[in-house]
Amino acid sequence: MAALGRLSATLRDIDSNSFADEDERLFAEDMLLGALARVQSPWDIAWNHNFVNATTHGAIKSLIDAGVFTKWAENGSKPETSTSLAKMTDTDPILIKRLVRHLASHNLLVETEEDTYEPSPWAKTLGTDQAFPSIYGAFYSDIISVMSNGLPSFLKETGFKNPTDSKHGVIQHLQGPYESVFEYIVADPTRSKDFSCAMECHSRWNMTAWTDAYPTDILLKDAKLDRPLVVDVGGNKGHDLEKFWLKHPEIPDGSLVIEDLPGILSEVEITNKAILKQPYDFFTPQPLRGARAYLVHKVLHDWSDEPAIKILKNIAGGMEKGYSKLLIHENLVETVRPSRRTTASDMIMLTYTTAAERTETEWHKLVNAAGLKIVKIWKQPTALDGVIEVDLA
Ligand SMILES: C[S@@+](CC[C@H](N)C(=O)[O-])C[C@H]1O[C@@H](n2cnc3c(N)ncnc32)[C@H](O)[C@@H]1O
Repeated sequence: MAALGRLSATLRDIDSNSFADEDERLFAEDMLLGALARVQSPWDIAWNHNFVNATTHGAIKSLIDAGVFTKWAENGSKPETSTSLAKMTDTDPILIKRLVRHLASHNLLVETEEDTYEPSPWAKTLGTDQAFPSIYGAFYSDIISVMSNGLPSFLKETGFKNPTDSKHGVIQHLQGPYESVFEYIVADPTRSKDFSCAMECHSRWNMTAWTDAYPTDILLKDAKLDRPLVVDVGGNKGHDLEKFWLKHPEIPDGSLVIEDLPGILSEVEITNKAILKQPYDFFTPQPLRGARAYLVHKVLHDWSDEPAIKILKNIAGGMEKGYSKLLIHENLVETVRPSRRTTASDMIMLTYTTAAERTETEWHKLVNAAGLKIVKIWKQPTALDGVIEVDLA
């Protein structure tokens, strides 16, 4: 009882605002999850994996599709009964009650009194952010969930060997002879859009902004403004170029270029005049020559060494010696006790792209194999990722 009293007193008032900074908050999250794993019985853990995760996801996606989070936000995000949430969305109150009470019982909403719910910051974000709900859409149903379920049978069929061939992975095992997972993604416009929104969210919340890790002023010094300033290779929606523009809004129109597959770029709308779109396959020669910087963010981790070296060599072909820089923004796998986020990302690479996250040593090996050299790795002290600055050798 004493332990319970102490625990309750310590935890009662803690929330995401209780910490000095983001690093401290994430450290606290790790400690709390560690404590939870020690408190849970084997059955608690299995129950969560197999009964809670899927049912919670199903309830969340249904509430998103019914418009509950959006209408709730539009109506001021106040505490509401399930009946009023159903009324706002013209849905069945009995059904809405069952869905929201499931989320409240998992601390995703707060039940303030009987059948009255307050939206948590997570629920408010689902109602106000354009990209956030997409993570629960085709990104999850067509990619994450399907392929994770397919991993065991794929590994069984291939004799439990570490997969490295992008033409022979879970995606082909389940869906047929796609060139890579990206061909499967762009084959469907909703899948492509939801994937890109997930990348935007990932870039916004899960990693250090490259513009915080790397001193971007370096790129403006002696920049030749008749050429692109930053080319974001595999740049998706251009969210990383937006970060650069927010820091340097004075740059000329058209200085920043997103390069990505046509099927991705066709779903991307750009209103910022500084940013241009260039459809491009990075397994072909780089069409934009002599840019000040080529940024590759979370692209090389999608590919095993052989294709990653091809991508690097194609970028190197566009670089001007002594002027162009290659900036690789990626995870740097910790050699001892890698973090939860790093290992989850590595599992995603294993499952979706037959690739892997890399350690610092592995990055050096890869970059050297492409005939390039690492000048410096820019990394904030507690970050899981960094910007690897690379020059032509
Ligand atoms: C994991 S996402 C990273 C996106 C973005 N750089 C970011 O950090 O959010 C990888 C990107 O590479 C793009 N891509 C995949 N294959 C490609 C290819 N052959 N040529 C150009 N882009 C490609 C994908 O469409 C996707 O946008």
